[in-house]
Amino acid sequence: MINYDSIKHVRGESQFVDDFIPFEKILYGYVFYSPIAHGLIRSLDISEALNMEGVRYIFTYKDIPGQNQVGGIIQDEELFAENKVEFVGQPIALVVAENFLVAKRASRKIKIELEELKPVFDPREAYQIGSLIMPPRVFSIGNIDQAWSQCDYIVEGQVESGGQEHLYLETQGSIAFPVENDCIKIYSSTQNPTHVQRIAARVLGTSMNKIEVDVLRLGGGFGGKEDQATHWAVMAALAAKKLNTAVKIILPRQEDMRLTGKRHPYSSDFKIGLDKNGKIIAYEVTFYQNAGAAADLSPAILERTLFHTTNTYYIPNVKATAFSCKTNLPPNTAFRGFGGPQAMFVIESALFKASRVTGIDYHELQKINLLKENDEFPYGQKAKNCRAKICYETLEKKFELEKVKSQIIAFNRQNKFIKKAYSIMPICFGISFTSTFLNQASALVHIYTDGSVGVSTAAVEMGQGVNAKLLEITSKMFSISPSKIKIESTNTTRAANTSPTAASKAADLNGFAVMEACEIIIKRLKKFSAQLLNITDENKIEIKNEYVYVHNQKTELNWNELIQKAYLNRISLSAQAHHATPDVYFDREKSKGQPFAYHVYGTALIEVTVDCLRGTYKIDSVKVVHDLGDSIHPVVDLGQVEGGIAQGIGWMTVEEVIYNENGKLITDALSTYKVPDIYFAPDKIEVHFLEDSPNPFGPFKSKAVGEPPFMYGIGSYFAILKAMLEFKPDMEIKFHAPMTNERVLMSLYKNIKEKVSNHFMNAGKI
Ligand code: MTE
Ligand code: HPA
Ligand code: MOS
Repeated sequence: MINYDSIKHVRGESQFVDDFIPFEKILYGYVFYSPIAHGLIRSLDISEALNMEGVRYIFTYKDIPGQNQVGGIIQDEELFAENKVEFVGQPIALVVAENFLVAKRASRKIKIELEELKPVFDPREAYQIGSLIMPPRVFSIGNIDQAWSQCDYIVEGQVESGGQEHLYLETQGSIAFPVENDCIKIYSSTQNPTHVQRIAARVLGTSMNKIEVDVLRLGGGFGGKEDQATHWAVMAALAAKKLNTAVKIILPRQEDMRLTGKRHPYSSDFKIGLDKNGKIIAYEVTFYQNAGAAADLSPAILERTLFHTTNTYYIPNVKATAFSCKTNLPPNTAFRGFGGPQAMFVIESALFKASRVTGIDYHELQKINLLKENDEFPYGQKAKNCRAKICYETLEKKFELEKVKSQIIAFNRQNKFIKKAYSIMPICFGISFTSTFLNQASALVHIYTDGSVGVSTAAVEMGQGVNAKLLEITSKMFSISPSKIKIESTNTTRAANTSPTAASKAADLNGFAVMEACEIIIKRLKKFSAQLLNITDENKIEIKNEYVYVHNQKTELNWNELIQKAYLNRISLSAQAHHATPDVYFDREKSKGQPFAYHVYGTALIEVTVDCLRGTYKIDSVKVVHDLGDSIHPVVDLGQVEGGIAQGIGWMTVEEVIYNENGKLITDALSTYKVPDIYFAPDKIEVHFLEDSPNPFGPFKSKAVGEPPFMYGIGSYFAILKAMLEFKPDMEIKFHAPMTNERVLMSLYKNIKEKVSNHFMNAGKI
């Protein structure tokens, strides 16, 4: 074998300090995308754009050295469209120029001829013509066919829930640059560094060890960067390789909104059967998931919908069928809750409608059917450490539900047009990736000779505070000050083959991995301390508050000295550990198993005021009893609960994703897409963490927190609905989220419906 560096040295390709690319030489990429929802590409003429001053190159599928394929679960998505486009916003080319504006202007000079094909936007319509992403999935328990005869009441209905824009503050983006040996280094705003690495290698036709992905932090991801950060990272890598310089792609907000997928809209049918006491005997449901034009994460999201079919209720006979419908919208993707919220909105709608038919209060029905210890979920797992009932009852007591009710009654008696109502939303959310193999993570811990510590893991910080938790865990493990510890960027060369930071699992998985890596080093340090201090039994050694203790007695030996001495005695001060969640499995053929390490429970009380003349409303308060286990970081966890609630309320109320009849997104700016702001957010969010509820399956007995609180927001829909019924008891009830102001008004005043919808049709055409 010749020397590893010989060829590079001779060719002048080896990089020395002076050779690193100065970032002022960076080039900028702008994505040219399909203007139509469905069609064949007849011709593409880039010549005029390419000749513009400052334009360096225009990439199409023809420039791809490897595969033109970015699909993850299913390989059905091209990086650049070759012959066919399937949604407005589908990338066709990448213009690379000396600055962003030149690249953008040049993209306008690209000429494309398209032959339009008929698009489909509605998931039921897609289902009718057999346009499915994959075969249907069914979860069932008991015997649904026999169960109907035991029911005193059977209620059927249809439920619609809308999409949701992620609206992370930092839009999608990436910088890639070439490194010697045909390698590429990528800085990416991704939740999934390994996925970027894998797909970049595939598209570039190279091996994964030639791609390094580094993530410092994200300005939010919310699921939108689990799969869909990849495209821009891979395009930047492709351009960096070909042009041999650094290339940056940052999507402007409007393009980010147009080009990327969102939360999946669902259309669903339910049939629920109850006995005369309100016990649910049977529940049959069909979900039509609007997947958009490619699979992306839809199959996994569809599966989680099925896992959360029954929310936090025990139902002995269930049949849930789910179709992932392929339509001509941007591929929809992961979003906080990952398909769970869509299922929970349906079961709550079913209970709400059942309460109208049976005359049993909606919240009574919830309580009657709450999960109990050892109850079986439709997927075969049994509820353990079940905290459904305790959360619900603690909420009723702690927040004085009876008093709230009587205050609302008194208010409504005195007010004709302004009505108040409350609703209660109990949740149960399964913690683990439902794809069992993803439940793994690793950590690499170094102690440096001055006693400071560096920690690398697979976790990506995206505002959720995972770094704060990992810092806390490391500090507890070594019993040293947090100021001595640094959490490093997430890098594929330090944590390889990582799972995405998703499924609320990052702190659990990476927290355990950090604990295990620290434990390896602690063992070495204890053994070494015993030698130093002439103690025969190293088990009598403890490291506490930066000092070594023997038999609980503080010694003179402090942390910094210990580390110095250990180094001089050639003791390794680094360790790597891998953690895999024990005892989780799932049989996809049978749709049975134990997919979750545990469940998170909680209950929310939401109070609203609706102006029944104007259709406007206010979320007055959200009060929650939430099961967190023993929190590692109560402030971070509180922030997660509050943020999740605001985002969940937004999905149910003001956030409406609208495409026009040609599949073009018309809510593609903050002027047309409304999100909860500080004025809209509830005046009062009160969160009570369930006491004395350690979680045996989390690091330091903690529980995952990222996604579950999102689903409290569902209660806001029913609270508004209840207030509307106070005003107009005979109103026709529809389960169609989001419950925007327009929808409130149109439901209360049927005769103005046409007028208002004409107005919006016209607005849509602008
Ligand atoms: N919080 C902030 N501030 N920003 C985010 O992007 N993502 C959410 C949640 N909370 C998100 C967030 C989603 S979708 C998930 S899955 C979890 O954080 C992921 O992080 P965790 O596993 O550390 O909880
Ligand atoms: N949650 C989030 N992301 C995922 C999951 C999940 O359960 N499975 C695969 N990717
Ligand atoms: Mo979260 S939707 O699992 O990134």
